[in-house]
Amino acid sequence: TSGDVQSSTELGFKPVAVSTENRVVVPEGYSTETFVPWGTPITGSYPEYRADGTNTGEDQEQQVGMHHDGVHFFPIDQKSGGNSSAEGLLVMNHEYINQGALHANGPTRAADNEGVRPVDEVRKEIAAHGVSVIHIRRDSNGTWDIVFGSPFNRRITGNTDMDIRGPLRGYSKLITAYSPNATQTRGTLNNCAMGPTPWGTYLTAEENWHGYFATADAERPREYVRHGVNDNSRYDWELADTNADEYMRFNVSTTGASAAEDYRNEANTYGYMVEIDPFTPESKPQKRTALGRFGHEGVIFAPTKEGEPVVCYSGDDSRFEYIYKFVSSKPYHAATAGGYLLDEGTLYVARFNADGSGDWLALDLEDADFAARVAAAQGTLVGDIQFDGFENQADVVVNTRLAADIAGATTMDRPEWGAVDPNTGEVYFALTNNSNRGKDGYDDVNAANPIVENTTGHIIRWTEAGNDHTATSFDWDIFVFAGEQGTETVVDGEAVVTLDDTNIFNSPDGLWFDYNGRLWIQTDGSDAAPYQNNMMLAANPVTREIKRFFVGPVGCEVTGVVSTPDVKTMFVNIQHPDGNWPNAAEDRPRDATVIVTRDDGGVIGA
Ligand code: FEO
Ligand code: CA
Ligand code: CA
Ligand code: CA
Repeated sequence: TSGDVQSSTELGFKPVAVSTENRVVVPEGYSTETFVPWGTPITGSYPEYRADGTNTGEDQEQQVGMHHDGVHFFPIDQKSGGNSSAEGLLVMNHEYINQGALHANGPTRAADNEGVRPVDEVRKEIAAHGVSVIHIRRDSNGTWDIVFGSPFNRRITGNTDMDIRGPLRGYSKLITAYSPNATQTRGTLNNCAMGPTPWGTYLTAEENWHGYFATADAERPREYVRHGVNDNSRYDWELADTNADEYMRFNVSTTGASAAEDYRNEANTYGYMVEIDPFTPESKPQKRTALGRFGHEGVIFAPTKEGEPVVCYSGDDSRFEYIYKFVSSKPYHAATAGGYLLDEGTLYVARFNADGSGDWLALDLEDADFAARVAAAQGTLVGDIQFDGFENQADVVVNTRLAADIAGATTMDRPEWGAVDPNTGEVYFALTNNSNRGKDGYDDVNAANPIVENTTGHIIRWTEAGNDHTATSFDWDIFVFAGEQGTETVVDGEAVVTLDDTNIFNSPDGLWFDYNGRLWIQTDGSDAAPYQNNMMLAANPVTREIKRFFVGPVGCEVTGVVSTPDVKTMFVNIQHPDGNWPNAAEDRPRDATVIVTRDDGGVIGA
């Protein structure tokens, strides 16, 4: 969807101050309106949102989900080469839920927290997760609306049928009662950031999926141990008051709740990038396993080159996890490109060296270096896991984190979103924070993650060797350290950024380059002084000038940003607001998209 990249990345607006107000703040000359809040009807019978929380599970399956996160705008004419900024498909993730706000009187549980959950509450919770595809159009007054009755309007939930693709399709560790040949599963969960593909589809990231499953087994497979699948699920869906396997599957014990059903491997069907074709409403989402199984935060594609492999980057957002790169084995051709390009290729993990260089380490048993490390690790303790080898390449992929440990990758301070500068090809990643870095019993600092108990985070960037995204080495530097007033980012002994009142921030999370090459930085951090409410800043990647552009309401994180191709309408997501934002007349908060425009109709940020 990129428009023509323009030369100016200057920031022309007056920065806004930090804020504790329960509203959105933008610079002088800009306006906002809230759009598609949780519960907005978008499909089916368009059930009206009920402000008292009494919408049913079936209603929620036809309404916008909760906890808006990654978002992309697909111009409606994209498939025919167009670039509409007036009509398109707004596709967004719903990461998780506020159970208290979702139901009329909060979630029903027995006093011991082990009680049976009413099945319709669980149905509603599953339906409030996933992805919304919303056909939207701007009218002649400049007002954006949902296109009522559009066939593109669609909800994908934690219960939608999906195909398993790539190296794990058919692999024994993904066999479930639902799919004895390990080719299918149901649902996508904890969808955090995302990435549009070069062929006009949407990849949604499965981040903290491990928390949705529970197992009573004392002995757990390494595929669960390395991710923290344990005896306690976040929302107790496996305790739904039913024997229907669409709910019982969240019990991944070797002896499931229902003796006839075996879902011990269900959690191995999660942890992927999931491809959704918003332009083909009947299409089944595809779990693209070649991109690895971990806590995917999102994915960012390098610019494509005709006849060259497709390259994309994805971070694993947990403390001391890694940054990955996928390089397809098949070449990209614009005329025939599609998701099949993501099914075969090499998955690499990043090692950041102290001298400012870096290496991409292949997680591939046919790679001599990796094979040697696997052989050397045999019989040793890798983290908490007694390593007894990989039975094949599928076993490597389903255990991506363990493979990265063995490969000797650099543990990072929670990689969140990545972004690729459209003008230079440089890759940026937000490292949101890592309060355990350098503490006793945890990994020490390293050159790329140099702050002990890093509570405020930083943004790293690199250039691939020869500016070729398929390269296996790169040169990196730190773009900016977040923090309070006076925080310096020093290059060659000189402070190239010193934060002040106009740009202090903490815990960078969302990152996005707009189509002109301005970098947008969103935060999900402490909302105590001096930072106050979470925010979005704009950065000039050439000069490293950074200015605060937007501050969210109380309690939220600001996550997910995209614009129309002309960069004159911007969509910014507000997740987990407190209180009654955005409608003071109601008594529960609603996650929502905020539409930002410039009063003079100009380019946002310019
Ligand atoms: Fe869901 Fe890592 O943010
Ligand atoms: Ca979040
Ligand atoms: Ca995030
Ligand atoms: Ca975050």
